Amino acid sequence: MSAPNKSYDPVEVEALKPEEIARVRDEALAAIAAAADLDALREVKAAHAGDRSPLALANREIGALPPHAKADAGKRVGQARGQVNQALKARQEALEAERDARVLVEEAVDVSLPYDRRPAGARHPITTLSERIEDIFVAMGYEVAEGPEVEAEWFNFDALNFPPDHPAREMQDTFFVQGPRGADSGVVLRTHTSPVQVRSMIDREPPIYVICPGRTFRTDELDATHTPVFSQVELLAIDEGLTMADLKGTLDHMVRALFGEGMSTRLRPAFFPFTEPSAEMDMLCFACRGASVGNPDNPCRTCSSEGWIELGGCGMVNPRVLTACGVDPERYSGFAFGFGIERMLMFRHNVADMRDMVEGDVRFTRPFGMEI
Ligand code: DAH
Repeated sequence: MSAPNKSYDPVEVEALKPEEIARVRDEALAAIAAAADLDALREVKAAHAGDRSPLALANREIGALPPHAKADAGKRVGQARGQVNQALKARQEALEAERDARVLVEEAVDVSLPYDRRPAGARHPITTLSERIEDIFVAMGYEVAEGPEVEAEWFNFDALNFPPDHPAREMQDTFFVQGPRGADSGVVLRTHTSPVQVRSMIDREPPIYVICPGRTFRTDELDATHTPVFSQVELLAIDEGLTMADLKGTLDHMVRALFGEGMSTRLRPAFFPFTEPSAEMDMLCFACRGASVGNPDNPCRTCSSEGWIELGGCGMVNPRVLTACGVDPERYSGFAFGFGIERMLMFRHNVADMRDMVEGDVRFTRPFGMEI
């Protein structure tokens, strides 16, 4: 920009000539009218009304004019800039209104769509399987009993005839919440559902028929075949004159209800402190029904051609347990069994990896569907 100069003629300054001002103004107005959206208008604004636009540059030249010429040129440039700014504002408003109207249509939410398009959730198969087992026994008159997951060591071990130095109490198997304090029992995360047997006998008068589902805990690392949090179902029957034949009949009924007619169980001698005698129970392989045994042409993946699948432990309630729970062993006898739900789910549904059962991914649970 040059200094004021009396001999300076505004008509000689190219940028300030009336035709030139009119030309750049018209150019600006045409560009504004042609801007198709707000982005394009932003560019037009920078080019025709920004600091480096022809009209802004012309405006700067005014300072260099002699005083008598300033007013005239200033009016011309000011009017042109005013027109351009007005046109910009009007176009901006029009384009914003257009965009708002479009967004309303494009992003509209149809609140009248049926709500059941939301994907239905799925109950966890551990829950449905355990409820299915409960139902079998509720139908026979059993009561569902539950106990706490954080359990006194006395209920989890002592009352069940585990000697004080039994290896299952060791830190490496049991989550201790609190060690024993003087005469007070320690507190553990229950390692099995058997303490619910004890609670049931203490809370009820015989005859007692209970089925006890629940979560149990052991200090195992989570891998394909172990999980530190798992589920068991426990059964306890206390009455006059119950024998191992009643236990066997009850087990056979359960596997038939779960896996169909023709199923059966077998017992193998075992040891548990809370039952005497004790047994491991197997069920007939529901897939091959024993047909794969000694038949290499027709192998069975479910039972590895063993013909039997290991289910859990059982036995006649040890009289020492009855006594500890206030039940007269001279008058009453009882049977009990307990088994893991995860294992049953694995062989019943060919679940290869236990981690799938605990990770909570709906892609695992959904195929099991809703079973209520
Ligand atoms: N509580 C045992 C466990 O966790 C299973 C068991 C064995 C339960 C024998 C019983 C039983 O009721 O009689 O491995």
